[in-house]
Amino acid sequence: MNEEFAREVKEGLSAKPKYLSSKWFYDEIGDQLFVNIMNMPEYYLTDAEFEIFSEQTTEIVRALTEDVSKMALYELGAGDGTKTIELLKSMNSNEFVYHPIDISQNALDNLKVRLHNELPEIEAKPLQGEYFQVLDSLSVDNATNKVILFLGSNLGNMYDDVAKEFMGQLAQSMQSGDKLLLGLDKIKSVDVVLPAYNDKQGYTRDFNLNLLSRINKELDGDFDVASFQHVPKYDEESGIASSALVSSKKQKVNIGKISKTFHFEEGEPIHTEISRKYDLQILDKVIEGSGLRIIREFNDSRKYFMNVLLIKS
Ligand code: AVJ
Repeated sequence: MNEEFAREVKEGLSAKPKYLSSKWFYDEIGDQLFVNIMNMPEYYLTDAEFEIFSEQTTEIVRALTEDVSKMALYELGAGDGTKTIELLKSMNSNEFVYHPIDISQNALDNLKVRLHNELPEIEAKPLQGEYFQVLDSLSVDNATNKVILFLGSNLGNMYDDVAKEFMGQLAQSMQSGDKLLLGLDKIKSVDVVLPAYNDKQGYTRDFNLNLLSRINKELDGDFDVASFQHVPKYDEESGIASSALVSSKKQKVNIGKISKTFHFEEGEPIHTEISRKYDLQILDKVIEGSGLRIIREFNDSRKYFMNVLLIKS
């Protein structure tokens, strides 16, 4: 049994209001559902970042490698790698080792197969773990410049105080001259953002609900998944999208492996995810005091998304 999952489920479902961390979405089924989400027209984030990488490749690669003598390339939360492969294709593969980092071993295995097929000349050394755990292993090598990719608006899953703490720790694992390319979704109208978290096909709903199925499977739970509703929201003012699973009736849920029963009122939510949208002012606050400095910004043609290049002072 995954002890950490058990501990966090117990803590989150005992809290008021109830919550579960979005990092637990990514089991084998969740990974596949997320790939499906990325292929939906409503989920503009992937298309926008892909457009940046394919239209501005030369510029990005130059900015990443400029003043970098020997490069080690890391990617946090590599996922299925579609966007990164686009970048890697334009980089001189014999000049660096690529280290995709992901919490999901399954996602890394899939990525490894894809890289082998599409870019066999790249030397890839995947690292499995949570960002924070893997961060320490990033600080070992100091003969080379690290270039770290953190794409896909993955930072958006963190509240600002957590993101700030995270950027601080990440910066500490970097040396002067090391670089970080961040992919961030920009603050924009609710008409664009909300459908991205509520696709017509229902993949996002299934993705959110899969967390309950995962608890049933791995922790011997008896969630009646059909009696929970996927409820996405977006607040234009704060730029924060959030998702919850809302109980459609008063009910009890028993989770065997943590020997606990949880009570739900009708309409009671379990908060499962935030997806923070950014602008440069918000990013400035998040990196304040970290020693990271913004040196470039790349946008897609619709200005939905940005890739921001930072350097450690
Ligand atoms: C992978 C964190 C960027 O928040 O947009 C997609 C995850 N959740 N649909 C996001 C997600 C629901 C995604 N990130």
